[in-house]
Amino acid sequence: MLKQENSLIYLNNAATSWPKPPGVIQAVQESLELPFGGGRGTGKTQRDYLTEGRETVAQFFGEESPDTIVFSSNATDALNTLIHGFTASSPEKFHVITTTLEHNSVLRPLHHLEKKGRIELDHISFSNAKVNPEAIIEAVTDKTRLVVMNHGSNVLGSVQDIRAVGEYLHDKDIFFIVDGSQTAGHIPLDLSAIEFDAFVFTGHKALFGMPGIGGFCIRNPDPVLPVRMGGTGTDSGSLDQPGDLPERYEIGTHNYPGIASLIAGITFLQSIGMDALQRRADRQTELFIKELSSEPGITIYNPDPELPIIAFNIPGLDNDDVGYILARKDNIVVRTGLHCAPLLHKEIDDGAGCVRISPSWFTTDEECRIAADAIKEIAHHAYSQI
Ligand SMILES: Cc1ncc(COP(=O)(O)O)c(C=O)c1O
Repeated sequence: MLKQENSLIYLNNAATSWPKPPGVIQAVQESLELPFGGGRGTGKTQRDYLTEGRETVAQFFGEESPDTIVFSSNATDALNTLIHGFTASSPEKFHVITTTLEHNSVLRPLHHLEKKGRIELDHISFSNAKVNPEAIIEAVTDKTRLVVMNHGSNVLGSVQDIRAVGEYLHDKDIFFIVDGSQTAGHIPLDLSAIEFDAFVFTGHKALFGMPGIGGFCIRNPDPVLPVRMGGTGTDSGSLDQPGDLPERYEIGTHNYPGIASLIAGITFLQSIGMDALQRRADRQTELFIKELSSEPGITIYNPDPELPIIAFNIPGLDNDDVGYILARKDNIVVRTGLHCAPLLHKEIDDGAGCVRISPSWFTTDEECRIAADAIKEIAHHAYSQI
């Protein structure tokens, strides 16, 4: 398929996926046409989005019980609920381990707690886009109570060995939170085979849902106190927040259209199959890596990404300028700057930021070739000026 004159090439799916599958848009529309339910009115609800949503997510992630699935408004919301909730249950200052790969949705809540004197914090660095599980294990002290770790890097496209870390931590008194924002929907997950306490996901990226829906799977809620209270439609005579899942953390009216979009997004992924999805993602990622590395003026930060995420710079050109040229000249949307991952960028490009390309199932090979050519042309011009 040839690119139409002026048609948009969207390569920013690691931020938010676009376009959404037609079934997702239809599901949102249908959810708004039905009277809302979920225990907040009389009469029979026509569709139980909450039960269906939990079952769909649990089954897709290979998690045994749908009762462990909690909905939130996004991954950031989920991570805040978990990190602050865990801290609230601990009267003493404790030690936390995280990594320099993390997104600000992990780094900022932890930094805030460190500044408040509530935690002592260690950031484990990476090498060749990977955090060595041994480095995390070696950093554990008798004061360590929490490990928060990225599963898929939103800049380097690398997948971290959460299984090894989980295996080590599982018989210790250390709560293990995994940020799966970039892996959910990209790689087949079998959570039942992984030891963790909470696994965070977001709906609007590779799961093809709409913005405003995410959640987490929590196996051991006891050490995570609810930090926000409110109406749940259950046990309303009590002024205490219900202690059971999911009411412990799900407060206020649910995002039914969001949950409907998540169910439809996952159904779409299942209709394609994770193998086919991964094959296309691998092919397009390889195409970009091969093309961009054939041009001498381009630095690629991880030449072997496992996710369809390619990060690069053209030395001598500001990454924002590269993004600007791609958008203005070729109508190609990428993401530039720090990608909310400041510590990672400090390690790879001295904090200057880079350009990130992230295709999705809806990106054609032809679009990838056009984008790769456009980037090579910018690099070629920049290189010939030196
Ligand atoms: C690794 C990672 N964690 C967390 C987030 C935050 O996700 P959300 O926008 O759903 O809060 C992102 C989004 O860019 C991410 O890439």
